[in-house]
Amino acid sequence: MPSRRNFLAALAAPSILDAVQPGRVHAAGFGPIPGASPRIAEPAPQSVPSWPEDSDPAYWDLIRDQFYFPRTEAFFNTGTIGAVPRFVLERVIDDMRLTESTVARWDYTERTDNSISGYSPQLPLREKLGKLVNADASELALIQNATMGMNMLASGIDLKAGDEIITTDREHPGGVCGWQMRAKRDGAVWKHIVMPQPANDPEEIVRLFEAQMTPRTRLLAFPHIVSPTVVVMPVKRLVELAHTHNCLAIVDGAHGVGQVDVNLHEIGCDAYFSSPHKWLLAPPGNGMLYIRADRQDQFWTTLCSSEWDDHKSGMYRFMQYGTGNQSLLMGLDAALDFHFRIGPDRVRKRIRFLADRLRSGLKQIPGASINSPVNPEMCGAMTVYSVRGVHGADLEETMWERRRLRPRSMGDPLGVRHSCHIYNSEAEVDAALEIVSDLAKQHA
Ligand SMILES: Cc1ncc(COP(=O)(O)O)c(C=O)c1O
Repeated sequence: MPSRRNFLAALAAPSILDAVQPGRVHAAGFGPIPGASPRIAEPAPQSVPSWPEDSDPAYWDLIRDQFYFPRTEAFFNTGTIGAVPRFVLERVIDDMRLTESTVARWDYTERTDNSISGYSPQLPLREKLGKLVNADASELALIQNATMGMNMLASGIDLKAGDEIITTDREHPGGVCGWQMRAKRDGAVWKHIVMPQPANDPEEIVRLFEAQMTPRTRLLAFPHIVSPTVVVMPVKRLVELAHTHNCLAIVDGAHGVGQVDVNLHEIGCDAYFSSPHKWLLAPPGNGMLYIRADRQDQFWTTLCSSEWDDHKSGMYRFMQYGTGNQSLLMGLDAALDFHFRIGPDRVRKRIRFLADRLRSGLKQIPGASINSPVNPEMCGAMTVYSVRGVHGADLEETMWERRRLRPRSMGDPLGVRHSCHIYNSEAEVDAALEIVSDLAKQHA
């Protein structure tokens, strides 16, 4: 019986996306990626361009071709959700089509590829993800998003009345509400530090956490990168602080993976969760939960199915969510291949370069304020800024109306949050700066 993998060759029909974008020359995206999973390596039936040479001066321009949204629009809101490359989306769609085409052939034995997620350990994919974040496959669970990871941790740990949890005052609900629920349900005490605004001194943040700690403190839960003010936190120092006081350190890494270097064994945290649909450009519906090998037994499984009590297979017990879409995992796999093909360092350098260009430009504009860190140690690929006299929502709207640029309003007084990713260009950043400059003059 042919495996689902071999069956791909028979599916030569053009993809739905080719059909809706008739003008595209290479709608199927680039050719094979060396080392990618075998199904990706099979070239699409029509000829596709090869990957640009690393030294090609048009490299990023060619990478831009990998995205569906028109070149006349600039997407600066990866902080909410990343744009999925063609290579990745085609893989998901092809895989869903393949699943439907071969559904009758699936005999539930090991001879055929699995058609659903939620019941299998997905070890090769966890290993691939582990290479990016420096963790063992057994320390990673594939879940749906950061919110799910935070809830699994918050609901899974034993807490008594009076036990303290310390967070910041700038948490996303998907990083904090599970802890608030434990405070209400069990009488645990949820405390938070007030983040400096803007934050530019990592040691100050460490001191603020330390000042809140008491003998009842059980854990520090903080973001790797703060959602509304985009502070890259001194995670390693905070983990050391927690451990010095015999507390757990739990990191909300929703924005970490794909934006900054995430080396989990080096950070040393006890748990970390992320949303690869943001900076890793994976399709939504993918999440990552890490618990350090020697801490896993401190957490109950709270979403339980057959393997819920298997403590010998690492994080597999946290992946028991019932029937899920296997093709979305294929999308995560393809997103990792895409990321590795460009190179994690190269991605980080590029997005940081664009964000630095934006910050340098903003510093030259009287009337513009950067409301996120400027200390390079605490900066990533996002910037929050405002123009005196202009509400964040108006700034966002003006950017769209004038030049089709899409940052995201954070309201007053923060302004807009502007995320730079590999699909952005110097010209797009400069267009944003021109608008800021013009508005600042108008409101001077
Ligand atoms: C810091 C932070 N934590 C958690 C979340 C929740 O992410 P998700 O909706 O993917 O679960 C977000 C979403 O933007 C976030 O910014």
